[in-house]
Amino acid sequence: MILVTGGAGFIGANFVLDWLASQDEAVLNLDKLTYAGNLENLASLEGDARHVFVQGDICDRALVDGLLARYKPRALVHFAAESHVDRSIHGPGEFMRTNVEGTFSLLEAARNHWSALPAGEKDSFRFHHVSTDEVYGSLSPEAAPFSEVHPYEPNSPYSASKAASDHLVRAWHHTYGLPVTTSNCSNNYGPYHFPEKLIPLVIVNALAGKPLPIYGDGQQIRDWLYVGDHCAAIRRILEVGRLGETYNVGGWNEMANLDIVRQVCVLLDELRPRADGQSYFTQITHVTDRPGHDRRYAIDARKIERELGWRPAETFATGIRKTVAWYLDNQDWVAHVQSGAYREWVSRNYEARA
Ligand code: NAD
Ligand code: DAU
Repeated sequence: MILVTGGAGFIGANFVLDWLASQDEAVLNLDKLTYAGNLENLASLEGDARHVFVQGDICDRALVDGLLARYKPRALVHFAAESHVDRSIHGPGEFMRTNVEGTFSLLEAARNHWSALPAGEKDSFRFHHVSTDEVYGSLSPEAAPFSEVHPYEPNSPYSASKAASDHLVRAWHHTYGLPVTTSNCSNNYGPYHFPEKLIPLVIVNALAGKPLPIYGDGQQIRDWLYVGDHCAAIRRILEVGRLGETYNVGGWNEMANLDIVRQVCVLLDELRPRADGQSYFTQITHVTDRPGHDRRYAIDARKIERELGWRPAETFATGIRKTVAWYLDNQDWVAHVQSGAYREWVSRNYEARA
């Protein structure tokens, strides 16, 4: 089996669902279930013996040691993190604990486990670290997209904590030989995205008749990738990625925030027109900018394309249409997230099973 951390969050849950849809190898899913962890994302796996869920903290070394000894996973895919830039500005402490100390603790547990494995299993063991393009900082309008050798210039507490975790992963390979790979991906969007992030927030607010908040002038650029394509890239790296290497993952899809929000409005106007006949555009509102807001991210994905043959399957047009349709079809999921009812899922589903 493989061990996935943070598999109840947005990308982790998509990864677990895609993994089990395409093969039978079991997943041990370790997630603390912070506000961002939602077992309703994995409700379709209820009763599926291939998915073993453990609620726990990656910083809990005794727990992680016990899981590695008991389940002997052949690979570890590390998603667990505090992931929201705005939250890191309001309260950076948890970002340092989970993203930096948590990754350190996981690396040590993995090293301890890996170094005691018999030769064959030792060679095939993998630790894959899921990271972000934000570690590279902000690009000027004319600058070339981030390649894997771009200097690290993180600007937010979130990106600084992810940069620190990347450095730890690199060092554990170079010093101890731990068989690691790292991916640095651009902005994801798709199903199960927590509605604190731009795209799901805009869909949910639009339908509720609320303002669609644009930070500053809305001309900040991100490189958007459908979440299923990110998951496919990670599977490919696990399969054939070179040890100690990092791979940048992106959709060659740079767009300004205001254009993203307009596209979502156009789709909602088509798929769920407002009762008063007006466009959702009228709900767009400019608000005070994010402090230290990075102006532009863009990924040069040529290395993973060339070496591993990965390419995104979705264009932004196909991916965003699927995403808007998913939110329209899953209003219960949205309602449970907004009411907090999703957090009762653990007691509803698991306490009775004890
Ligand atoms: P998310 O916030 O939706 O999910 C994070 C998950 O980690 C949650 O289920 C949460 O409960 C769990 N978690 C948090 N702290 C934990 C701890 N101490 N122990 C165990 N579990 C814990 O995040 P996401 O958007 O799915 O991002 C997943 C990973 O991908 C992160 O490492 C993030 O930095 C990276 N990433 C995200 C994006 C993006 O656009 N969302 C892009 C590139 C990279
Ligand atoms: O680039 C990868 C990163 O993408 C990941 O590492 C992070 O985990 C993920 O959260 C995301 O970070 P961003 O800060 O880019 O995502 P967010 O959805 O918060 O914001 C996207 C852009 O939209 C950003 O420029 C800020 C802006 N924004 C965001 C919100 C929530 C707004 O204009 N209004 C908003 O209300």
